[in-house]
Amino acid sequence: MNDLTSIPTERLAADAPGIARAAALLRDGKLVAFPTETVYGLGADADDARAVAGIYAAKERPRFNPLIAHVADRAAAERIGMFDADASRLADAFWPGPLTLVVPYRGTGVSDLARAGNDSVALRVPSHPVAQALLAAFGGALAAPSANRSGRVSPTLPEHVLADLDGRIHAVIEAGPADVGVESTIVACLDGGPRLLRPGGVPREAIEACLGRALMAAEPADGAPLAPGMLASHYAPRAAVRLDAVDVRPGEAWLGFGGLQASGMPVAALDLSRAGDLAEAAANLFGHLRRLDASGATSIAVAPVPHEGLGEAINDRLTRAAAAR
Ligand code: TXA
Ligand code: MG
Repeated sequence: MNDLTSIPTERLAADAPGIARAAALLRDGKLVAFPTETVYGLGADADDARAVAGIYAAKERPRFNPLIAHVADRAAAERIGMFDADASRLADAFWPGPLTLVVPYRGTGVSDLARAGNDSVALRVPSHPVAQALLAAFGGALAAPSANRSGRVSPTLPEHVLADLDGRIHAVIEAGPADVGVESTIVACLDGGPRLLRPGGVPREAIEACLGRALMAAEPADGAPLAPGMLASHYAPRAAVRLDAVDVRPGEAWLGFGGLQASGMPVAALDLSRAGDLAEAAANLFGHLRRLDASGATSIAVAPVPHEGLGEAINDRLTRAAAAR
């Protein structure tokens, strides 16, 4: 188990020697943060329960919350999970890319701890070239939650990773901004048809068009959340967050969209996308929240953001950031 404060965190370049070093650390059971197209992940050998335990410790993540196993390609995914017709169609359409599929686990390749004891497994093939190169060099599945402390805003830059985890992890591969900016969409293909567990980088509309039918909601009949990580008060900056704002109150920062100017005098102000582009807004979301949080504002007033396309994931994360805590 890692001592939480004593690890010298190596900063690795996103080149061949850096990736080789990262793969060697991972094979040795160490924790390495790496870029994906959505957000930075905190990787460990998914099949090594001791290494995976280190992820939970470094993040202070509750152990009932399972991790996504990242694999190099579809063939590696199919050795770990069982794909029905819907899962196959979605993997064909959206992998590599920001989609995670929760499917029945075959029994090898991902430790019980990484799955938090579930008989399903969450699988994703990331498209980021550095993630691809790392998975190829490592050779197995990497368990990787977002590389932030549990409950905090996900990292879209290596600086965000270090702000939360410096001294708690063995290395970070520094590769600039993650360009999607919100986490992967999670779809469960278990019994009874595909369910949307988390909106994310692939819009619902694209998934439903691919499947030819509507996704079901996340909650099964018995009310147990299928994605335990989808708790309110996730993705929380220190400042309070006030949604659908049109004015700025004393002490507040302003997070705009589409160039909308609020009445009032913000402590600090940023726009998710002056052009009103949802992909740009998603890419800016977590970084802007961190910057406004650092301004010392008591609260962040957020302009309305449309709900369609990537707007569903943006509004989902904003709603969690705003949840009472
Ligand atoms: O874009 C992403 O998905 C990023 C990058 C690093 O790949 N990863 C990420 O991981 O967002 P994390 O741990 O922050 O979120 C994973 C979510 C959690 O809500 C967890 O509960 C859910 O996936 N999950 C994992 N395994 C599951 C399973 N077997 N059944 C249901 N939900 C699962
Ligand atoms: Mg996370």
